[in-house]
Amino acid sequence: MKGMDFRSDTVTRPTAEMRRAMAEAVVGDDVLGDDPTVKALEEAFAERVGKEAAMFLPSGTMANVCAILTHCRPGDEAVMEEGTHSFRYEGGAAARLGGIQVWTFVRENGVPEVEDFRSRIRNGSDPHQPRTALFIVENTHNLAGGRVVPKERLDAVGDFAHERGVKLHVDGARLFNAEAASGIPAAELVSKADSLMCCLSKGLGAPVGSLLAGEEAFIQEARRVRKALGGGMRQAGILAAAGLIALKDGPAALAADHARAKKLAMVLADLPGFVIDPSEVETNMVYVGLEGISGPAVVEACGKRGLLVLAVREDRLRFVLHRDLDDEALGQAIQILNEVAKDPFLKQRGKAQISGKFPMDDGATWEPS
Ligand SMILES: Cc1ncc(COP(=O)(O)O)c(C=O)c1O
Repeated sequence: MKGMDFRSDTVTRPTAEMRRAMAEAVVGDDVLGDDPTVKALEEAFAERVGKEAAMFLPSGTMANVCAILTHCRPGDEAVMEEGTHSFRYEGGAAARLGGIQVWTFVRENGVPEVEDFRSRIRNGSDPHQPRTALFIVENTHNLAGGRVVPKERLDAVGDFAHERGVKLHVDGARLFNAEAASGIPAAELVSKADSLMCCLSKGLGAPVGSLLAGEEAFIQEARRVRKALGGGMRQAGILAAAGLIALKDGPAALAADHARAKKLAMVLADLPGFVIDPSEVETNMVYVGLEGISGPAVVEACGKRGLLVLAVREDRLRFVLHRDLDDEALGQAIQILNEVAKDPFLKQRGKAQISGKFPMDDGATWEPS
């Protein structure tokens, strides 16, 4: 199935070059601070994103949680848009592990305005209220369809945060997709962020790992939190070796994924029952609505033909482009979709699962990370 897996960019497999580098990696004990390959990766990443220091972690979730627990104290509040990964998909870690309250706001396209944060800021001198300690912005924004948060918008949020003594953390799980789509170097995109995290294990193609970056003192403190979470890894250079290749070669390859995503969106827009505005596809994510046909039935019909996609709701599918899907794979997928769209059974409820579905009182559903 490797050939046509459009469910997520997390499905990318390490290349032969990565596997070789992993086998040959010079390693040490990273918890004792002496794994040279991990150090090389952390330094390369910090330089790439224009921050003083960086730390390697097993996952993007742990990187976000480390950032939250480092920036905030128990009783503090973190503010974010309601589709943000840290609110939706991190097991309530801010509350569970840090006693930190999260306050969200809603933005249909996921791209926050300064006003959204202004409307959620607390009066820090009033002891009745929690203290606003952190703003989080996701760039690109997964649930908003892989949208890019423009630099001016992020800068304005950063300026406002600092004016009010609040920190800004950027969930840049797909930061280099934002760089590729905007043409603005990642370091400039996050220049106002106090911290940022980025995943090597998504479109960049590494098998495991994320990085958290910020000022030296912040990273020192975050190392303590990572240890407390059990995220100190020993001969992690084996993973960092693949990460170094992902960081060097991965970002330049993302524009091709974006072009293929756009092409797929244009094809889907012409299929009966599929509803999408291709101009809203900015990076590698393609979310498409369905009218009169069932998402799980489409997933089932595609799956039988070797094309893997996700139904994120009964009436919504997600396709994600990544480096393991070339023009040939896209061509095959388009052929299958053209065939499937003619299937009369699509109107019936399919048996495939709705990924991550969890009904809420108001009938809305959760979508997958
Ligand atoms: C925007 C965003 N942030 C964070 C994460 C968490 O990354 P991980 O799966 O490595 O924990 C994801 C994962 O899909 C994501 O999409």
